Amino acid sequence: MPYAHITGWGMSVPEQVLTNDDISKMVETNDAWIRERTGIQERHIARDNQFPSTLGVEASIKALKIANLRPTDLDLIICSTSSPEYIFPATACLIQDQLGATKAGAFDLSAACTGFIYALNMGAQAIRSGSIKSALVIGSETLSRFVNWKDRSTCILFGDGAGAFVLQASEQPGGVLSAVMHSDGSGSDLLTIAGGGSRHPSSESTVLDGKHYIQMDGNEVFRFATRVMASATEEVLVCAGLTIDQVQWIVPHQANIRIIKAAARGLKLPMERYIVNLEHYGNTSTASIPIAMVEAVEKGQIKPGEKLVMVGFGAGLTWGALAAEWTGPIPSKGHVRPEQYRFFARVRSVVRRALRFIEGLLYRREL
Ligand code: UT7
Repeated sequence: MPYAHITGWGMSVPEQVLTNDDISKMVETNDAWIRERTGIQERHIARDNQFPSTLGVEASIKALKIANLRPTDLDLIICSTSSPEYIFPATACLIQDQLGATKAGAFDLSAACTGFIYALNMGAQAIRSGSIKSALVIGSETLSRFVNWKDRSTCILFGDGAGAFVLQASEQPGGVLSAVMHSDGSGSDLLTIAGGGSRHPSSESTVLDGKHYIQMDGNEVFRFATRVMASATEEVLVCAGLTIDQVQWIVPHQANIRIIKAAARGLKLPMERYIVNLEHYGNTSTASIPIAMVEAVEKGQIKPGEKLVMVGFGAGLTWGALAAEWTGPIPSKGHVRPEQYRFFARVRSVVRRALRFIEGLLYRREL
């Protein structure tokens, strides 16, 4: 049975930064309160022309470059997102088209902030089963579009960004070691965007009621998170047959420093074992774990051969954890430049639209 190794990684955040001081000009809050209660100092906010696919493609090209893989080599693209560009089509399909990943199947996965763990596990399981050889797993969000900038309990938290991993099959042991996924829909009302779906289709009244905004019971989500972060970490270690001492790093969902500290206390671990970068990005939902991982790898914190646990929680409610051994790129011949495929992908996309148009005209004539 092949192993699923993480052989490429990349991240992308919008250049526009919103500081706590900037937010204090919009709502009754201040830098000291936000830092003390969340640990966040600033977050990145997408411009009008930046979408989950834009950020996802940028992160993916970096990941493919490190993996030395062409977009056309990919078998599967999974995009985890809670801020998809449309209800349908899937954001993953937009990314597939922009990358020119002509062979890949593509779908979105909705498990909120836990989504990247779910998606990485799904990609890894498809490789482990032998049905595919490579997968691109993306977590991408522009949740700022759904933030009520008059609600101080939520607008201080969220930021935009994307992270992407390439998974590849290898006979070499390692890569994704185990994963656990959990849900409890009885808490579905605790964190939600209620409007725009089929229960509350967009209308004047959904907008007047603010149903298009993120609504959250912060205290309940906080309590739930502190309960599950430590237990999911322990559970995934048992599945992997590892003890906590055999793991070098815990990479938690970057929601609130107090939640991460509570999880560390629960496991009696020093904070030095936790990868934390929420001060600069805020809560980027499903993108937070890959963004934290990519930064840690680039800084030389996480090294090949080291073992780690990714652990997250979010709306749904969902929570989960994934244990992995960090491999790094599989040595390969040649030098692939995935960014060059973007031009061909654009041309291909235009040509396919034109052909579809011509085919439509011919088909109509035949009828
Ligand atoms: O990916 C999952 C996403 N969600 C989460 O991770 C959220 C988890 N929850 C949290 O992180 C925290 O509950 C918050 C950061 C949202 C809130 O922090 P808290 O320490 O739980 O504050 P609180 O809601 O208990 O409010 C304490 C006080 C209240 O004032 P009173 O009633 O005591 O007078 C709030 O009105 O702080 C007030 N408050 C604020 N004050 C200044 C709430 N938000 C703010 C604010 N600035 N931004």
